[in-house]
Amino acid sequence: MGAYPKIIVSPPGPKARDLVKKDEQLISPSYVRYYPLVIESANDCIVKDVDGNEYIDLNSGIACMNVGHNHPRVVEAIKSQCDRFLHYSNTDFYYKEVINLAEKLAEIAPGDFEKKTYFGNSGTEAVEAAVKLAKWHTRKQLFIGFISAFHGRTIGALSFTASKPTQRRHFFPLMPGVAHVPYAYCYRCPFKLTYPECHYWCVDFIDEFVLQKYMPPENVAAILFEPIQGEGGYVVPPPEYFQRLKKLADKYDLLLIDDEVQSGIGRTGKWFAIEHWNVEPDIICSSKALASGLPIGATIAKTKIMDWTGGSHASTFGGNPLSCAAAAAVIETIKEEKLLDNATKQGTYALKRLAELKERCEMIGDVRGKGLMIGVELVEDKETKKPAAQKAAEVITRAWKRGVAIVTCGASTIRIVPPLTIQREMLDIALDIVEDTIDEVAKEAL
Ligand SMILES: Cc1ncc(COP(=O)(O)O)c(C=O)c1O
Repeated sequence: MGAYPKIIVSPPGPKARDLVKKDEQLISPSYVRYYPLVIESANDCIVKDVDGNEYIDLNSGIACMNVGHNHPRVVEAIKSQCDRFLHYSNTDFYYKEVINLAEKLAEIAPGDFEKKTYFGNSGTEAVEAAVKLAKWHTRKQLFIGFISAFHGRTIGALSFTASKPTQRRHFFPLMPGVAHVPYAYCYRCPFKLTYPECHYWCVDFIDEFVLQKYMPPENVAAILFEPIQGEGGYVVPPPEYFQRLKKLADKYDLLLIDDEVQSGIGRTGKWFAIEHWNVEPDIICSSKALASGLPIGATIAKTKIMDWTGGSHASTFGGNPLSCAAAAAVIETIKEEKLLDNATKQGTYALKRLAELKERCEMIGDVRGKGLMIGVELVEDKETKKPAAQKAAEVITRAWKRGVAIVTCGASTIRIVPPLTIQREMLDIALDIVEDTIDEVAKEAL
C-alpha cells in the first residue's frame, strides 16, 4: 500500500455496489451500515476496498484494531497456533494458551489483588458473565445501569443497554431488576446543572432517589458502567466521578462492574480507561481490541468474587486458543511498541487540533476524549445544542469518499478511534480531511 489515502474510483465502486446488492439479499437486515465500504484487505492504519481505494482508518474496525490491522506479530501468533490445534473446549479440558492470557490480564488490569478470568466470545458475553457472576457471588438480584449505555444485545446485556430505542423495541420483557440512572454527560447534563457547581449531584441522585426510594440497596448486586460511554457518544465523566461512584458502592456494599469492551486495551492511553479515575473495579469486561479482531470476551474479577462453582457458567468456544494466542501477542505488542504512550501523545495532539476547530466552527458543540478515543459532537448551533444528526452523517460519508473511514456514535458525534500505531503525519492527513469536511458541511448550512 503506497501513498494514502488513495481514491482511484469514486466510492462505492462497481465491485462494492455488486457486493452490497448481494449482501442485501443474503445478510440479516438488523445491521446498521454507515456507508457502503466493502473491505478487501487491511494493513496497519490503512484499509483497502474491493475497488482498490485505500482509506486511512479512523474506525479500527470499531475500536478493535488497536495494534493496527494484521500486525505481523499477531498474525504470526495465530498462524503458529493454527499449526498446533484450533479447539479443545476449555470448558472441559486444559491448555496453556488461556492460562498464559489470564496471567497477562491479571497483570495489566487495575488492582494489586489476585484475579481470575472467565473467557467468552464477545463483549456481550463478557458483560453477561459479569452480571451472572455478580448475582452468583452476592445472591442479590438488582442492578444499577446508566441511560445511554451500551453493553450488548443478548437479553441480559440488553437489559442494561439504553442508548437507542431501536435496540430494545419489540424485545420486552427483558431481565427484570435493572434501574437506569443518568450518566455524567456534562455537555448535556440530564439535570440541567453545570460542572463543577453541580457537586456531582448525578451521584448523590442515585443514593437519594434510587437506592433510598425504590431499589433497596441490600438487594442490589452491582453498578454496571462504561468508564467512557461508547455508543452513547464518547461521553467522558468529570475528574472525580468514579471516585464518588466507588464511595457510593462502598457505602452499600455494591460491586462495581466496569465495561471496558470499547475503552480498554490501551485505547485511552491506559490499559483500561478507569485508570484515569484511579478506581479499581471488582469486575472488568474486555473484548473488541483484546484479540485484534478474533472473537473473545474476558470477564476479569477479583479472585474472592469469582467464586462460582463448576457448571454455573461456560461456553464451548470461550477461551479459543487462536483468540488467546492473538490476545497475548496484542498485549506484548502494546508493551513493546509503547502504544499506550503513542495513544496519549497522538490523542492529546488530535484533541488540541479539534478543540481549535471547535472555537471557529459553529457546528461543533463539544470535543472530548482520552487518548485515541475522541468524540466531536456536532450541533445545529451552539446556543440550542440541537444534535446535528444529519450533518454528522453527511460529514462521515463525505470524509469516507475522500479517503478517511470514520463513523459516528451517540446522536451526532463524530467518533475518532484510529489504531494506536498511528503516527503524526498520517493523523494530520486524516484530520485535515475530517476538518475540511466539517467546515464544508457547516458552511453549506449557513
Ligand atoms: C461498551 C460495550 N460493551 C459491550 C459491547 C458489546 O460487544 P459485542 O458487540 O462484541 O457483543 C460493546 C459493543 O460495541 C460495547 O461498546
